[in-house]
Amino acid sequence: MRISVIGCGYLGAVHAASMAHLGHDVVGIDVDEAKIALLSAGRPPFFEPGLPEVLESATPSGRLRFTTDFSAVSESDVHFVAVGTPQVADGDAADMRFVDAAFASLLEHVKPGDLIVGKSTVPVGTAARLADLVASVQPEVTLAWNPEFLREGFAVSDTVNPDRLVYGVPEGESGERAARLLNEVYESAVAAGTPVIVTDYATSELVKVSANAFLATKISFINAMAEIAEVTGADVTKLADAIGHDARIGRRFLNAGVGFGGGCLPKDIRAFSARARELGKGEAVRFLDEVDKINLRRRTRVVELVREEAGGLAGVRVGVLGLAFKPHSDDLRDSPALDIAMRLADAGAIVTASDPQAIENARHRAPQLLFAETAEDAVRGADVVVLITEWPEFTGLDPVAVGDLVAHRTIIDGRNALDPAAWRAAGWTYRGLGR
Ligand code: UDX
Repeated sequence: MRISVIGCGYLGAVHAASMAHLGHDVVGIDVDEAKIALLSAGRPPFFEPGLPEVLESATPSGRLRFTTDFSAVSESDVHFVAVGTPQVADGDAADMRFVDAAFASLLEHVKPGDLIVGKSTVPVGTAARLADLVASVQPEVTLAWNPEFLREGFAVSDTVNPDRLVYGVPEGESGERAARLLNEVYESAVAAGTPVIVTDYATSELVKVSANAFLATKISFINAMAEIAEVTGADVTKLADAIGHDARIGRRFLNAGVGFGGGCLPKDIRAFSARARELGKGEAVRFLDEVDKINLRRRTRVVELVREEAGGLAGVRVGVLGLAFKPHSDDLRDSPALDIAMRLADAGAIVTASDPQAIENARHRAPQLLFAETAEDAVRGADVVVLITEWPEFTGLDPVAVGDLVAHRTIIDGRNALDPAAWRAAGWTYRGLGR
């Protein structure tokens, strides 16, 4: 199929490359010339395992190209809109200006029979509004909404082998045709038995935000239990194991620690809450405000633990392990690690941070931090070591060897990713979160 992907950020670049990998003819479009130059050279503008290989294999075949020229969409029949919907600067809502601009440009070039497919995470009601816009400009073009559930670090495999496909389509023949076309786009996944849920626009939009709201709630639930565990002497990791054996609960996404960050969960729950308030149903999801607060409180807890262990923060040398919001990513958006490191430094600590992928991104964002290429260099001479992003490079550290590098053997395990017994046996004061 001939496909265009509008927006070559995280979602769009992965989608474009994955669609070409599946054998489609794909053009990726973005207004950012630097990003397009990198992608055209087969280089992703961010770290994502598996993406360089997919870009390298698809680009020389001619099946995948990138351009800033919007008129290139006229050579395609299916147009995916994958631009960002960040949080607005002055509130919780989603900023829709990139979506609106993408549709305005797209509608100048579409032709009768084309299918537009929204992939961006949007406030419920957006697709219906955009469908009216499309109909007013080009009545022979159909809009579908097809949310994306990919996880950073697994983005290519999640796109090629999704655990479900959701199509929000209009009623009637045009909607049936849209679903058929999407089944052709995702032919390999459909043939492999991936569940396909065909529904209306509003449901498809809500599936995405409610899935993220549920995941965020699960994490904040276990972090709330960690708060209780801290004042009772209970161990939240054992608690999670025990309740996780109940198949109705499940153990995944029950890891207590510094909580969730990244470009999706935090802004999506805030935007959902803001949209519910607009709809007069703020109370229905008011618990999400609490989910957000619990999540942010965990960062404060880590700062307080460092202060407690070091007897203050001014002049204290802290080695911070991790900057990205999660391992196997260089993404610093809403990263608990970067936030905690900066708060420690702003309170007067001398913070040296390391991360296998995110140092270059962090240099621009956090001039108050020192950076070290390796974990060993980050912790050398430290009064307190704080592990915040559970990269294997950090969780696999030998407590005996690291003990020889630091000034004081105190470690705060912000992800409950270490074995407390092994670290204590090596003479460390070990503090986890909720254990
Ligand atoms: C998430 C959703 O998983 C994905 O389906 C959606 O499309 C986009 O948002 P992502 O942001 O890539 O994906 O990361 P994810 O693996 O879900 O982790 C989110 C955050 O939660 C990370 O900061 C992670 O460290 C944290 N987390 C996850 C926990 O604190 N505890 C857990 O048990 C699991």
